[in-house]
Amino acid sequence: MKTYILANWKANKNTPEAISWLEAVSNTKMDLSASVEIIICVPFIHLHLLSQYPQVGQPGVQDISPYASGAYTGAISAQMVQNEAKYVLLGHSERHRYFHETVAEVAMKVSQALEYKITPIVAVTPDKWHRQLNSIPASELKQCLILYEPPEAISQQTGPVGVGEAAPLSEVVAAIAEIKASAPDSPVLYGGSVKSHNINEFLSSQVIDGVVPGSASLNAEEWLKIIAISQKIRG
Ligand code: PGA
Repeated sequence: MKTYILANWKANKNTPEAISWLEAVSNTKMDLSASVEIIICVPFIHLHLLSQYPQVGQPGVQDISPYASGAYTGAISAQMVQNEAKYVLLGHSERHRYFHETVAEVAMKVSQALEYKITPIVAVTPDKWHRQLNSIPASELKQCLILYEPPEAISQQTGPVGVGEAAPLSEVVAAIAEIKASAPDSPVLYGGSVKSHNINEFLSSQVIDGVVPGSASLNAEEWLKIIAISQKIRG
């Protein structure tokens, strides 16, 4: 089984800031083993930049349109990013909270992504995960990764790595075990205030197939620490 370490940049970094992160990370020698898959989910505008720094990890985005290409002003379809993106983070609770995205729309996005061979990472929350996963056909769900993330565990983006309280490990392990009982073919990741100081806790449990640092991934130095620790534990 692989371990997935996914950076979720959210709505951060202009072009010079993205380049400086990519330079810092790509200039640091990392001994990466094939058992740890590093995924960088950037804003769409940085997707082309990622292709110039393939050594930093697999390229991903944080959303796609629920519709195919066509007359949908402002939207970015899976067909448009199929050559650059290998992964797409879908259904993040922030998409629901601020953009009113529905469970049905997330299911449409999953279908679009899979049609263009982009692997969806479907985010679910403690209160709704049954409904969120049931809305995706089983044949599609088994091609997805799942991200379990309680919204209250998400960091405030203050200071160099963000400030927040991760969910207790025992709670995460119990929830992920339950999710796996109903989606046995999908790796399940945990997200919510994962930093270099607590990542070892989550990766020491074999039930957890990876983690999704958000604010901690914005800081190149912190991100490199996170990669080094994950290599040590799961590499
Ligand atoms: P955080 O974000 O690490 O800043 O809490 C994680 C996420 O929301 O994906």
